[in-house]
Amino acid sequence: MSPGLPVPAAEARAVSDALRSKLYRRIEQSGGCLPFDSFMATALYEPGLGYYSNGLMPFGEQGDFVTAPESGRLFGRCLARSIASVLEQQQQGVVMELGAGSGALALDLLGELKRLGVLPQRYYILERSAAMRALQQRRLSGEPEFRQRIEWLDTLPEDPISGVVFGNEVADALPVKRFRWQNGRISELGVARQNKQLSVCERCGDAVEKPVQQLARIGRWEGDYQSEYCPTLPAWINSLTDVLAQGLLLLIDYGYGRAEYYHPQRSMGTLMCHYRHHAHDDPLWSPGLQDITAFVDFTAIAEAATASGMQLEGFTSQARFLLACGIDQLMAETDTADTRQFLQLSNEAKRLLLPGEMGERFKVIGFSRELPEDVTGFAAADLRSRL
Ligand SMILES: C[S@@+](CC[C@H](N)C(=O)[O-])C[C@H]1O[C@@H](n2cnc3c(N)ncnc32)[C@H](O)[C@@H]1O
Repeated sequence: MSPGLPVPAAEARAVSDALRSKLYRRIEQSGGCLPFDSFMATALYEPGLGYYSNGLMPFGEQGDFVTAPESGRLFGRCLARSIASVLEQQQQGVVMELGAGSGALALDLLGELKRLGVLPQRYYILERSAAMRALQQRRLSGEPEFRQRIEWLDTLPEDPISGVVFGNEVADALPVKRFRWQNGRISELGVARQNKQLSVCERCGDAVEKPVQQLARIGRWEGDYQSEYCPTLPAWINSLTDVLAQGLLLLIDYGYGRAEYYHPQRSMGTLMCHYRHHAHDDPLWSPGLQDITAFVDFTAIAEAATASGMQLEGFTSQARFLLACGIDQLMAETDTADTRQFLQLSNEAKRLLLPGEMGERFKVIGFSRELPEDVTGFAAADLRSRL
């Protein structure tokens, strides 16, 4: 039960009921206990029904959460400065955005890249959800100059590209496995059906045994410990680095290096759910109507990327990254006579930078291949020792 959450409208409840019926079938097919990563994939991405696929708008004030680009244009303008520092080193570099949400970030980025005189030849968007893609196409259709450069992709391009591949809050949306470690006894958590409801089940930890044993050694856990890990993260990173012949891979998300992620004090894991700006920890509540995410293990990202020959460009907090990209200069250029606009901008900057908001929780990691010059955004004193 999740008391205190707003009651969904009838139309939304019908979508959730249909998804729940689908989940019951999958639970039955899996022998009664559906692994959590399969549950999460269905809850988020089941065509027509999942959270990102059912067309109920998740973003913004009316939605469930506000991402950095949804809170204003500063984030996109700063990120554009980092991307520009790569495009300036290349001839005809392209940009590929992963999971473009409402399309707001693409719009801000292209606007700023134009101002900086480095519009890319092509702007690819790789989006998993058809409903999100439709939303992006509607949003960007009013911008003919940019629209003709944008191409939506179903899969990664076959031919290698030069340029920048990036994603904001995409890695946290990859389905995770959940496990419980009780004094060395490992079980995998899944989802069952009990008394006409979804409930948590445990099964023997064959699928998670080996990775969890390794994490337990790093974490030095005692007693009862619960957490999650993302089994597809290394392969996802490999697929991105494989396609990048020259340039930068940049990922922004909430997360930690591995030692912090699996710290003994984080004994209830990192899984989080969002519904109408309420954060809570019950992933079984109204499937399809709420976002389900887990923090990102940035060490896993770094291991996969460097193993495929990429060079770690930097790992830093969002606050430090945005400052290195000149967020303070962008603020200083703003007309202070327009009090309303200035207030809005200050609130946005606070949200992006303050440690209690997004400034420290969110991290930025960058990997380069064959780039002669440094990339804007990564100062020498970064957090790479915490990877
Ligand atoms: C939390 S939203 C972030 C949206 C946007 N980047 C922003 O910052 O506002 C996650 C987005 O990633 C998409 N997504 C999730 N997994 C993906 C994947 N493997 N490849 C591409 N897009 C993905 C979702 O459909 C959704 O559009």
